Amino acid sequence: MKNTVSTLLEQKLSGDKITMLTAYDYTTARIIDECGVNAILVGDSLGMVMLGYENTLPVTMEDMIHHTAAVVRGTKNAFVVADMPFMSYQTSVYDAVLNAGRLIKEGGANAVKLEGGAEVCEQINAIVSASVPVVAHLGLTPQSVNAFGGFKVQGKSADKAKKIIEDALKIQDAGACAVVLEGIPAKLAQIITDRLAIPTIGIGAGNGCDGQVLVYQDMLGLTTDHIPKFVKQFAHVRKEMENGIKEYIRETKSGEFPSEEHTYSIPDEVLAQIDLEE
Ligand code: KIV
Repeated sequence: MKNTVSTLLEQKLSGDKITMLTAYDYTTARIIDECGVNAILVGDSLGMVMLGYENTLPVTMEDMIHHTAAVVRGTKNAFVVADMPFMSYQTSVYDAVLNAGRLIKEGGANAVKLEGGAEVCEQINAIVSASVPVVAHLGLTPQSVNAFGGFKVQGKSADKAKKIIEDALKIQDAGACAVVLEGIPAKLAQIITDRLAIPTIGIGAGNGCDGQVLVYQDMLGLTTDHIPKFVKQFAHVRKEMENGIKEYIRETKSGEFPSEEHTYSIPDEVLAQIDLEE
């Protein structure tokens, strides 16, 4: 069954936790989709985990469309959300609608995600008015890394916590269909989840949210970089890959690979007809 804005909302109402993972390519999207994850996020985290940038800021609309289209080709049932990259919506309401439209038309996404609270409500409202569902993103919003002075947990003081709650209510009023809560204390995320009618999807925000999202390279143990406290490694895929790659090197060098089993043959009588002199 295709996951939609309505099924995600039903999940909040029934208490069935929403599962979301990132994906950036066709093959991974197919695996995640076939496992039954409710939503796939084509995150601008692709700048870091796929393109090797230090943060998400250099990611372009072209990058997002390219990866979103690949993910959509590999997805049947998951609700596909595409991130709006840095400066594709902050500049004006017009840019926001235009670029959200491109992620839907050219990328094939089901919804877009953008970061921020009160300051982006006009953009959210205009995009939703153009019939594009918007997922908001509050707390540790990675596009604000320079303003925050690093990737730091947000909402730890009373003032900052209140501001995040106010922002959550504002983005809901502006028409957001869900909100990602990243890097905030679990009790604050619980308060927001209880106060909002729309689903909250947490990452580093405790288990009181309506759902969870993780970057797949982190949760499958593909990265060796710093692993944040909130990440659980559910598998150790890097080790498996290393084992396979090292075995390939060993068998190729020793001549064990390719064996008969992985080799095409030609009948001897055909071979005999080939004039090697020519
Ligand atoms: O870009 C991304 O992967 C995200 C998640 C961390 C929520 O925004």
